[in-house]
Amino acid sequence: MSTSIDSTLSETRSFPVPADFARQANLDAEMFARLNQQAAEDPDRFWGDLARRHLEWAVPFQLVLEADQAPFYRWFADGQLNVAHNCVDRHLRGASRHKAALIWEGEDGAVRTLTYAQLHREMQLFANALKHQGVRKGDRVAIYMPMVPEAVIAMLACARIGAIHTVVFGGFSAEALKDRLEDTQARVLITADGAWRAGKVVPLKRHADQALLREHGHAVQRVIVLRRTGTEIDMQDGRDIWWGDATAAMSADCPALPMQAEDPLFILYTSGSTGKPKGVFHSSAGYLLWSMLTTRWVFDVKPEDVYWCTADVGWITGHSYVVYGPLANGATVFLYEGAPMYPQPDRFWAMIARHGISILYTAPTAIRAFMKMGDEWPRRHDLSSLRLLGSVGEPMNPEAWMWYHQTIGGGRCPVADTWWQTETGGHMIAPLPGVTANKPGSCALPLPGISARIVDDQGNFVRAPDVGGYLVIDRPWPGMLRGIWGDPARYLENYWARFDHRYYVAGDSARRDADDYFWMMGRIDDVLNVSGHRLGTAEVESALVAHPAVAEAAVVGVPHDIKGEALCAFVVLKHRHQGDDRDELGAALRAQVTELIGAIARPDDIRFTDTLPKTRSGKIMRRLLRSIARGETIVQDTSTLEDEGILQQLGTAKKS
Ligand code: WT7
Repeated sequence: MSTSIDSTLSETRSFPVPADFARQANLDAEMFARLNQQAAEDPDRFWGDLARRHLEWAVPFQLVLEADQAPFYRWFADGQLNVAHNCVDRHLRGASRHKAALIWEGEDGAVRTLTYAQLHREMQLFANALKHQGVRKGDRVAIYMPMVPEAVIAMLACARIGAIHTVVFGGFSAEALKDRLEDTQARVLITADGAWRAGKVVPLKRHADQALLREHGHAVQRVIVLRRTGTEIDMQDGRDIWWGDATAAMSADCPALPMQAEDPLFILYTSGSTGKPKGVFHSSAGYLLWSMLTTRWVFDVKPEDVYWCTADVGWITGHSYVVYGPLANGATVFLYEGAPMYPQPDRFWAMIARHGISILYTAPTAIRAFMKMGDEWPRRHDLSSLRLLGSVGEPMNPEAWMWYHQTIGGGRCPVADTWWQTETGGHMIAPLPGVTANKPGSCALPLPGISARIVDDQGNFVRAPDVGGYLVIDRPWPGMLRGIWGDPARYLENYWARFDHRYYVAGDSARRDADDYFWMMGRIDDVLNVSGHRLGTAEVESALVAHPAVAEAAVVGVPHDIKGEALCAFVVLKHRHQGDDRDELGAALRAQVTELIGAIARPDDIRFTDTLPKTRSGKIMRRLLRSIARGETIVQDTSTLEDEGILQQLGTAKKS
């Protein structure tokens, strides 16, 4: 990657906190020091105070952290609250009642605004509709929707009645949806006829119908369908109901059900190095506290901000920083429905000017793509409303950082490069805009209460600067995942086993510089990062092998100037298919991956080969394939290779 240790090691620029920003920040240097001290001295008191101060409880908690079943930690477990109450109802008092909670712009340019009072009403109507369809506390509800206000309303309605939502990104295929419906055993699926994407319709309901075929092992009894694109669809009698009909006779009064702090709020699937994506689940109170606090600290959200996180609600970024974090803070959240460059490359900048957006949170892949389009697009618009910029998903290469800071931020906005994961619930390592100087390419320091460390192979702390190692978290935090849905053993194995359950192992490597700033160095497992989204190589490989012509496949990442990483697949064909047309097969395999996972998993490069390089014990030599895919000279030890001739065939000669 362009953000490899070599390019960032030479990065020495530092941008101090602008004085006028520091003066008005939610968190200043003095508070930061005090919070860090409290967290170190008495973590229970630190977290307990924050949870009491920032959340409204139906039943106050006495216990802060329970660690007797560690690493199955429990936070505030004897307390009760409702997440939707905290995100909506509590802002109905006073002036915020009629402030905009959501400002939405459709891809076609339509604009809709929902005040907190209106959001409160819509959420209750839909919560009653869910109840009417038989949804009870603890039931799972799947949401497969476009980026429209109803997606947010559906999530909050679930939270209000204690249903556990699982949002499936609208770009995922029918097959991916099917897997998630099976794994969660969701009773209700909420979808739309279609979604707008670059002027075209993504047929969500048709995908849903394919996922819901009777022979599949799902438990869906009811499908609620929002009309968005007007696409012709099949409505199955007795199963499918329009959103409008489901809410028509409902009352707009649905009390928020107090939930135990540890009751799951949602399940969200994310890729790992083996098998199918795993269902990470989060708690109600601890998750809400962490998404809320990090929004307040890292984005410095204020009542007068218009805040925009460009992520889809199908990702954790959309959960924590489109919905729960900003709404818990009573912010005005901007939502955009469609494709970033539609109808032309200035769509983002036009919307920032049109809506007076003051905080923008997006991903390096988008920044690089805009950068490539040229400065004339942002220059056409007045971006002076912006006061803070954020980034997430992968390391920001210093070039992209500088462009974001100068061309978009006019050199005056602090940049928050936030490191975190689906599992962490919220930001973990990030600069605080009123406290921490920015270094382009670094995500700066752990947030108060977060104990991030770098350890070596043996699990010893690495204290020397600029020495890479495993990134681990050695103390629990309220926003941490509570497990893998239905698979506690996998939770232990995946995140805790590597160092005897002593640390949460993130799966990233990192180094710290002499100022203790963290610099992320990428994944240490077989997980790829394509456009800021996590993809397991095993997942893509199994999609390829599912094709009748394929005997074996191995997928590796290669650097890509916009996506960060792109996929390169090495494919071995079954004997009787070896004469097949390679171009046609390549196209068929790409289509197959799109169908089984989604377009983001489509390999850019497919190379056919007779065998894969394996060790004598039969393990695929991935590192070797990675070098081959990148066109590098082979420096790895290939003496364990089963068949040295394979290297010639893969188009590279071993360096002697
Ligand atoms: C992985 C988590 C958390 C929302 C986005 C993706 C990488 C994320 C950064 C960053 C360097 C980053 C890590 C991490 N990552 N943010 N600011 N700098 N790397 O969530 O799909 O759970 O992926 O994304 O490798 O482990 P996710």
